[in-house]
Amino acid sequence: MLDRRRVVLAVTGGIAAYKTAFLARRLVESGAQVRVAMSKSAAEFIGPQTFAAIIGEPPYQDLFGADDVSPHTMLARWAELIIVAPATAATIARAANGLSEDLISATLLATEAPVLIAPAMHTEMWENKATKRNIDILRSDGYRFVGPNEGELAGGDVGVGRVAEPEEILSAARAILEPSARGLSVLVTAGGTREPVDPVRYLGNRSSGKMGHAIAEEGARRGYEVTLVTTSDLPVSGGIKVLSVETADEMKAAVDGVEPHIAVLAAAVADFKPADRASEKLARSEGLESIELVKTPDILASLVARDDGPITVGFAAETGGVDRAVEKARQKGVDLLVYNNVLEEGSGFGTDTNRVSFIASDGDVEEMPLMSKSAVAIELWDRIDALVDSRM
Ligand code: PMT
Repeated sequence: MLDRRRVVLAVTGGIAAYKTAFLARRLVESGAQVRVAMSKSAAEFIGPQTFAAIIGEPPYQDLFGADDVSPHTMLARWAELIIVAPATAATIARAANGLSEDLISATLLATEAPVLIAPAMHTEMWENKATKRNIDILRSDGYRFVGPNEGELAGGDVGVGRVAEPEEILSAARAILEPSARGLSVLVTAGGTREPVDPVRYLGNRSSGKMGHAIAEEGARRGYEVTLVTTSDLPVSGGIKVLSVETADEMKAAVDGVEPHIAVLAAAVADFKPADRASEKLARSEGLESIELVKTPDILASLVARDDGPITVGFAAETGGVDRAVEKARQKGVDLLVYNNVLEEGSGFGTDTNRVSFIASDGDVEEMPLMSKSAVAIELWDRIDALVDSRM
């Protein structure tokens, strides 16, 4: 129940505006207090009286109100959540660029509340580079998205751009207002392990820890109790318990000591380590024909094998298409696998951005655009929260 939670429903101009009336009804039935802001073009598609009848007060339609000198700041401060549904390409562009030329864009600019956007537009507009850029900016700024879906659009066209259904938007709103955390604990692994050859050399990889740390930070923001097992010395917010490790064996030992409800394994763990570690620096003059390697423990497999084990999210660092990762998701038995192609520009090791695909346990693949690692973490947590809600 959204017991008396304060939701501003911002309706912009699209044929899908009629569906927002159903959403308003469902929000009211769920116990939320709802105020509606409508753009001028929204009123071309649905009458303000419809919303007034559903929520019990007239919608706000103007930047300058007769009774209220500043409706946008009032709405911005009152809201615990703002839902923009349907959100047109123009509304998204204004928000991404910080414009405040009408009631809705000014409210978005003035608010500190979370904002949930339900885009609706023709496929060509959704796929336009400018719209993609604007969406990426908003995701990086912490805006949340639901939809759009694929289906029938205005004028009989079919494609991606159909607004999410009212129940989907309601469920996304619930995930924001009723966090799933409820005292649950999370283990996150981050960084690349280093497997010593001798006291000065190691076998390692290029992981910086940025992806794993972003996931730990977002988990903590959502109220989870986070333990971060990391090889990285990136700064970490207070409230996150950090266990610093270097090798795969140390990471395994640290993970063995934790009993989390959720485990997100973003670390790049060496699959092999030198069978012996020389106690002194190997000398070039003495020569070295080969280094014998042995397998490291599979940390992910050990978590999946636990009785009553955690919800487990793995990562797959691949250098090719998503197919191998789909197979990996099946083999590893994880609840969710995050695929990234580490050869793609702006994606994978060391970058501030990543382009991932989420692979569900049934093999369903959801491709995401290139976005900041913090935005990837937000998207990932939306999916983990949904798993938590369905299981716990
Ligand atoms: O740290 P950044 O610079 O931000 O880069 C992020 C990243 C590219 C490292 C990250 O997004 C990523 O892809 N991490 C997983 C890298 C990896 O080891 O992939 P893998 O396909 O080899 O392993 C699959 C899964 O098994 C991973 O969840 C890994 O943590 C886990 N694993 C692997 C080997 C092992 N011995 N034990 C494990 O638990």
